[in-house]
Amino acid sequence: MRRVSTLDELHSARLSLDGTVGLVPTMGFLHEGHLSLIRRARDECDHVVVSIFVNPTQFGKNEDLSKYPRDLERDLNLIEPLTNLVWMPTAEIMYPKGYQTWVEVEAITSPLKGSMRPGHFKGVTTVVAKLFNGVQPHKAYFGQKDAQQAAVIRQMVRDLNFPLEVVVCPIVREPDGLAMSSRNVYLDPEQRKAAIVLFRSLNTAKDLFESGERDAEKIREKMKEVLAGEPLAEVQYVSCADYDSLEELNTIEAKALLSMAVFIGKTRLIDNFVLG
Ligand code: PAJ
Repeated sequence: MRRVSTLDELHSARLSLDGTVGLVPTMGFLHEGHLSLIRRARDECDHVVVSIFVNPTQFGKNEDLSKYPRDLERDLNLIEPLTNLVWMPTAEIMYPKGYQTWVEVEAITSPLKGSMRPGHFKGVTTVVAKLFNGVQPHKAYFGQKDAQQAAVIRQMVRDLNFPLEVVVCPIVREPDGLAMSSRNVYLDPEQRKAAIVLFRSLNTAKDLFESGERDAEKIREKMKEVLAGEPLAEVQYVSCADYDSLEELNTIEAKALLSMAVFIGKTRLIDNFVLG
């Protein structure tokens, strides 16, 4: 596995990769969710490039940038057997002095997370566009865990004609159903137990859907009801939206996305299910 930081190093390493290249963008502190993306890229491409960069521009003013968990040596050991090239740029490399260009996707960044974290997706799309330009992959791998992020990136790729395929991979969960996340380390044992309420709430909503319920408001209410039963959970949003546009639904007629963001203590957790 070759390790590079600067753009010059990246470009010369990229030139030496013949055949198809799969890119897995990450912010590090890797877990099975990230590794599932890397394995999928390995199955489908001749070479796998992983980027590790805690992107400052996608964190809000009061968010956890400085506290974001990091363990680079552990990450490198985990990906070594699966990866050909790892790119670890610094913030100065990605955003040098005088930096002033941004990529912004409009409508689908507004609902859900967009309304709660203004500027977040502008940071994500800008850095992902820069990662695509740097690595020039044939395929890029993202997790369904961040459903809105995946939808926003698919939109950006269509709109800006990036010559690559976006592959969205299923959510990897802990045995009790909690979606794996780098942020789960913030949870103390009591909070960790409480955190499975997201999965329970989504399952209850899915059962309701499977028993024939198509009223989206009733499904949202059901999710909120289950979440309200957990005293440590504070709901930020609960959504039952169209899978592509992410607009809130009245009636479920096609593929829908159930999603939620919930604070457990100070830790913000997200999860989702796709219906239909
Ligand atoms: P990060 O949170 O490190 O996640 C990197 C990728 O791993 C994302 O595509 C995310 O959806 C996926 N992922 C995380 N947890 C997962 C799980 N439990 N199952 C499956 N996939 C999972 O998302 C980011 O970084 C950043 O926003 C980034 C795209 C790198 C841009 O900075």
